[in-house]
Amino acid sequence: MAQRVLITAGAGGIGLAIAKAFVANGARVHIADVNAEAIQEITKQYSAISGTVGDISKPSDLDTLFRDVQSQLGGLDVLVNNAGIAGATAAVADYPIETWNAVVNINLNGTFMVTQRAIPLLKQSSAASIIVMSSLAGRFGYPNRVAYSTTKWGLVGFAKTLSLELGPFGITANTIHPGAVDGPRIQSVFEGRAKISGRTVQEEIDSAMANQAVKHFINADDIAALALFLAGPHARTISGQMFPIDGDSKAAS
Ligand SMILES: NC(=O)c1ccc[n+]([C@@H]2O[C@H](COP(=O)([O-])OP(=O)(O)OC[C@H]3O[C@@H](n4cnc5c(N)ncnc54)[C@H](O)[C@@H]3O)[C@@H](O)[C@H]2O)c1
Repeated sequence: MAQRVLITAGAGGIGLAIAKAFVANGARVHIADVNAEAIQEITKQYSAISGTVGDISKPSDLDTLFRDVQSQLGGLDVLVNNAGIAGATAAVADYPIETWNAVVNINLNGTFMVTQRAIPLLKQSSAASIIVMSSLAGRFGYPNRVAYSTTKWGLVGFAKTLSLELGPFGITANTIHPGAVDGPRIQSVFEGRAKISGRTVQEEIDSAMANQAVKHFINADDIAALALFLAGPHARTISGQMFPIDGDSKAAS
């Protein structure tokens, strides 16, 4: 039977790359995303992808989402908790509490609520997996990104606890920790940094690359391939683990 997969924030970036990889592997995928237009476009293009417009931190949106999961997939084998926001760039002393609350609400509370609703479905699967998208910032401290780093570390405790509770049901739970992912977004990050520092964009990129052994940004398709493996038949006993994919970075940057 085709794997039934739910991916949060699946209408863009890493989530969409994961959705496409699962579809290419024969799975049926449901994506949850706040971007209605993107969902419409993707579901038109891929008959194996369905979607629900909604914010993972809003319980009423999750009611709709899980009704749709039930009607579209009729069960669940894989949950990819991919949704996460970065929040503000500010020192802890100046970090706005509203932003802290928003980051915690999506990255931790939303992930918790989605997972809580998915567990009864996953328990009915014969081979279920939960994949949680953490970050380099969930392995290192991250100056000026306290809410992001705190929540991404929090997700490690979350996944490790899920692994212990759900392992006896044959459900695995792991975290993926990507470094900076290639694409237009990373380009604008470096342009922003260059504007502040007065250095060139290339100098900013070189300084970021000095932080990692392998001098390449991360390819979203490679993250997707890792997720596919962790949800696949050869990873049934891999659980409670952290999987960095960051060119062997020395710090969050
Ligand atoms: N891009 C990177 O360099 C990078 C590095 C490490 C970790 N990550 C993590 O990977 C995950 C995906 O990152 P990305 O860069 O692909 O994201 P992104 O910023 O490109 O967003 C992907 C999708 O998330 C959706 N989204 C945002 N808030 C949502 C919410 N509350 N509910 C539902 N959908 C929502 C957006 O509409 C968008 O379609 C995040 O958890 C992020 O922290 C990203």
